[in-house]
Amino acid sequence: ESTVFTLAIESSCDDTSAAVLQNDKVLSNVVAGQKIHEQYGGVVPELASRAHQQNIVPVVELALRNAGITKNQLNAVAFTQGPGLLGSLLVGSSFAKSLSAALQIPLFAVHHMHGHILAHFIDEAGFDKPTFPFLAVTISGGHTQIVRVDSHFSMTVIGETTDDAVGEAFDKTAKILGLPYPGGPLIDKYAAEGNSKAFAFTKPKISGLDFSFSGLKTQILYFIRKKQVENPNFIEEHLADICASVQQTIIDILMDKITLAVAETGITQVAIGGGVSANSGIRKALKATESERGWKTYIPKFEYTTDNAAMIGIVGYYQYLSDMQVNQNVVAKARIQM
Ligand code: KG4
Ligand code: ZN
Repeated sequence: ESTVFTLAIESSCDDTSAAVLQNDKVLSNVVAGQKIHEQYGGVVPELASRAHQQNIVPVVELALRNAGITKNQLNAVAFTQGPGLLGSLLVGSSFAKSLSAALQIPLFAVHHMHGHILAHFIDEAGFDKPTFPFLAVTISGGHTQIVRVDSHFSMTVIGETTDDAVGEAFDKTAKILGLPYPGGPLIDKYAAEGNSKAFAFTKPKISGLDFSFSGLKTQILYFIRKKQVENPNFIEEHLADICASVQQTIIDILMDKITLAVAETGITQVAIGGGVSANSGIRKALKATESERGWKTYIPKFEYTTDNAAMIGIVGYYQYLSDMQVNQNVVAKARIQM
C-alpha cells in the first residue's frame, strides 16, 4: 500500500493552521490563534488577514518539522477554498498554490464544512468512525448546520441557521454578561454550578430543520436590562443560574432540531463537530440518546473539531484517492456551495 503525505492549510477565519497527514493519520496539526481580536469582542477581518500573512510560513515549517518530514516528501497540498473571510482565505490559497507549483505535486481545494464533516474519518485511537449514511451536525462560532452524509463526497445540507450561529449565541450572551471573548467556554464553566431552570427563555419559532438564534440574544439582553433596573448586581449575584438557563435553552433548541432530523431521515447516527461540540451540556444530552433512544453518536478529538488544518487534510487525502485535483486557476471564495 502506498503512502500519501498531504500538507493541508486552513486559514478561513482567525486561526492559521497547517497539518501533515500520512494517509488518514495526522502526523502534525499546528494551529496559531490570533489574540489580537479579543479586545474587539469578535474577529476583525483586516487584522486576521495580516496575522495570517505573518503566521503562514512559520506555521507550515513547524507542521513539517513536527511531522518529521521535508517538503520534498509531500505528495499533495490541500487548502480551504471557502467559505470564510476572503482576505484570510487568500493567504492560505496563494501559499498552497505556489507550494503545489514549486513542488509539482497535485493541489486540492477543500470546502471548509466538508472538513468539519470528514474530521470524523481521521484515524485516531479511541475514536470510532461513523458509517454511511449519518447526520453531521456542525456547531461553532461560524456555523450551525445539519448535513445528511451519504458518502465521503455526497452530502446534503438539510438544516442551517438563518441568522446567528450557535457559537455566536453563546459569545453574544457572554458579552452581555461582561465575560471576555470567546465566552462559550466560560458560560459552560459557570453553568456547571447553576440551576438550568432558574430562568425561562423561549425557543425561537422556526419550522423545519433550520435554526434562528438572533432572537434569543435580544431576549436575553432585555431580560438582563429589566432585572438590572431592580437589582444593579443582578449579573454578579446570579451568574451561574443565568449561564445554566441560557445553556439549557440552547441545548434544547439543538436537540429539538436534531431529533426532528433523525425522525425525518430515519438516520440514527449523529456526528457532531465544531467548537461548540466541546460544550459539556451538549455532550451529555447527546450521549443520553444512545441509551434512551438507541442512537449512535460521534464527537471527534477536540483538536480536530475546532478549526484546524488536519480536517482539511483528510478531505484532501480522499480527493487524492479519487483524482479530484484542481489546477492553478482555482480561486478562494468567501461564499461557496457545498
Ligand atoms: O470551531 P471554532 O473553534 O471556530 C469557529 O467558530 O469556526 O468554534 C468556536 C466557538 C466559539 O463561539 C466558542 O465560544 C464556542 O465555539 N465554544 C463553546 C465551548 N467551547 C467553544 N461554546 C459553548 N461551550 C463550550 N464549552
Ligand atoms: Zn469552522
